Amino acid sequence: MEKALYDQSHGYYSGKPRRIGRTGDFYTAVSVGPLYGKLIGQQAVRLWEAAGKPGRWVLAEQAAHDGQLMADILSEIQVGCGELAALLEVVLIEPQVGYREVQGDTLRDVWRGEVKWIDGVGELEGTDGLLVCNELLDAFAVRRVVKGEGQWMECGVALEGDGASIFWEDRAIRDEELRAEVERLPEDLPEGFVTEVQVAVKGWVDQLGRSGFQGAVWLADYGLDAEEYWSLERPEGTLRRYWEHRMDDRVLEDLGNSDLTCHVNFTVVHEAATAAGFRVTAYEDQGRFLTRLAAPWLRSLEGKVPMGEVGALLRQFQSLTHPGIMGRSFRVMLLERVAGL
Ligand SMILES: C[S@@+](CC[C@H](N)C(=O)[O-])C[C@H]1O[C@@H](n2cnc3c(N)ncnc32)[C@H](O)[C@@H]1O
Repeated sequence: MEKALYDQSHGYYSGKPRRIGRTGDFYTAVSVGPLYGKLIGQQAVRLWEAAGKPGRWVLAEQAAHDGQLMADILSEIQVGCGELAALLEVVLIEPQVGYREVQGDTLRDVWRGEVKWIDGVGELEGTDGLLVCNELLDAFAVRRVVKGEGQWMECGVALEGDGASIFWEDRAIRDEELRAEVERLPEDLPEGFVTEVQVAVKGWVDQLGRSGFQGAVWLADYGLDAEEYWSLERPEGTLRRYWEHRMDDRVLEDLGNSDLTCHVNFTVVHEAATAAGFRVTAYEDQGRFLTRLAAPWLRSLEGKVPMGEVGALLRQFQSLTHPGIMGRSFRVMLLERVAGL
């Protein structure tokens, strides 16, 4: 999965960011339109004010892709709170050079201030602020395991004939990290049950904790609680591939040309975040979370903004919050640093 997504030459996410949205392989909350970024921008202002308007405040994003979400957030902050815009430090966590270039081009149109790029969350400094991650964690490589006769095995990927044939191959679990995670799986799962273990997600939260970042973290992704994740209704796990708005579980086919992704196990994130010095201040379906955030503001626009513009915002609001579109399968989790840690 790591190679299929991030190999420098052949990975799905290598080179320059691909299109997301109607002409791409899938939609995200960002590709729905600028409303999502507007709402995060408003949340950022609220957090900054609640923290007592600190003089140093970082707005960071990881998985910024082509920079569109950061552009939408910054536009909102500049219109809504010039005081914060004047001191804001913008940081993009992006290891890929090709992505950095495109992000820089997108932001140049809306942001006159500096943009700093870093490789990973470990380099975030101990400042206050907000880190935004939309659909980051579902893009991390996972380990896939299957319940064999009485014990868990890792689903390895094997090649034959110089790659002409590629197939799953069950292997004994050798490393301690995976073994420890597998020991947490419910004992009564039946033989043949397949699931994913999100070792990389846990590692990311640990690294964030160690960085000393003092701010809040906005995590939005499609995901489940552990109980739902390991339910008998999901005997094949959640690993899927997406291409041209189609989706299936034949994840070893056409490697490098389709997105591979997995539901986030939010219980794992919650536990890792607590251990890393954060508390979870919100965790909800995206629909309910954004409705609470957006409703008063949308109502206040009536009469002030041209009807056509309100109509476009309402259509975006519906896509983001409708249970049948993105409202239920996506969840938002907000983390805040426990003071003094
Ligand atoms: C599903 S896309 C989401 C893009 C964008 N956030 C959105 O919602 O439209 C997943 C993104 O995660 C990025 N990504 C994965 N691992 C990353 C890492 N370690 N650092 C920065 N970005 C990463 C990929 O490059 C890709 O842009």
